[in-house]
Amino acid sequence: MVNKIHFGKRISALRRKSGLSQTDLAEKLGVTSQAVSKWECGNAVPDIDMLLELSHLYKITINEMLEDIDLLCRLTGRETGPSGIAYFVPEQERPSNAEWAGEIQSGNWIKRNWDQSRTANPYMDAVGKQIASCGGIVLEIGAGPGGGYMPYILKANPDAAIIISDLSPTVVREWKNLLDKTLDSPNIYYAAFDFCQMPFKDNSIDVISDGGGIGNCEGVKAKALKEAYRVLKPGGKLITSTGFVNKETLAALPAETQRVLIQKRPDVFEDLYEDTVLAGFSKIDSVISGCWYTGDDESTIADLARSLGVNLKFTSYTRYCSKE
Ligand SMILES: C[S@@+](CC[C@H](N)C(=O)[O-])C[C@H]1O[C@@H](n2cnc3c(N)ncnc32)[C@H](O)[C@@H]1O
Repeated sequence: MVNKIHFGKRISALRRKSGLSQTDLAEKLGVTSQAVSKWECGNAVPDIDMLLELSHLYKITINEMLEDIDLLCRLTGRETGPSGIAYFVPEQERPSNAEWAGEIQSGNWIKRNWDQSRTANPYMDAVGKQIASCGGIVLEIGAGPGGGYMPYILKANPDAAIIISDLSPTVVREWKNLLDKTLDSPNIYYAAFDFCQMPFKDNSIDVISDGGGIGNCEGVKAKALKEAYRVLKPGGKLITSTGFVNKETLAALPAETQRVLIQKRPDVFEDLYEDTVLAGFSKIDSVISGCWYTGDDESTIADLARSLGVNLKFTSYTRYCSKE
């Protein structure tokens, strides 16, 4: 069945891309601008002659205008199914993750983070705009409750083609519930999978967006970076952000503190630059995007830092990596 709302959104995006107003299009087709508005709002579908006209004008087939395609099936070979989410992991949350997933739901984290992303955030807005301007298919990995860069990509371009993914099926379902209500875009797809073992074909994705997923990876981070390289098209980009204690911060700490930290928590110094090079990325631009301190937070590393009498500084980096 044709989803009239999605059809309307698709033809509205095509018209705007062509630089036409509703009145311009109406004049070209010899119809009223009210008729164009009705099509674009999903209140009516044009007759077959008009569909043919539109297909010639926008140089796409009538089917491409009318049908919701299963992009994930095209990219993975597996059909998405009636839920609208492609599961490559069990649909039930892993017991080890159930408490966190429950907090996301009961605390309404996803809705709150989405609402927060609608307010101005100069840094995230700039990254979102940059990713959206790449065009093509964007894959958001480890979307998590914050959604990574995805909310800012959609803020820059609500028509962006984007796959929202996470290892946690709850996270993916929560994002779908919210975005079906708020945007109902025909260009947003949902998948639950492990990014260390991506279900996508080689050279199939234009951009991978990772707002802190790989840095918090369940699994081997180097493997996730290799997978990102494999699935990206030549010329594709990985935009990844991660936070760690950098060499400068480490060097400024007392020698004994350095020794204990390196011995007990080598993970906090993981910079991932070398792994990114080893994955195959030849051009990597790093930008420092901010920093935070362990302060009085409740993490195990904060406990260790307090026991050593230091307030540990983490620096966040955003890396723009190209598959040449
Ligand atoms: C702590 S969150 C932080 C980043 C997240 N982008 C955000 O904005 O909230 C990390 C996310 O990465 C996901 N994740 C961790 N390891 C993963 C893996 N191997 N495959 C897919 N997702 C993973 C987690 O389920 C979690 O949602």
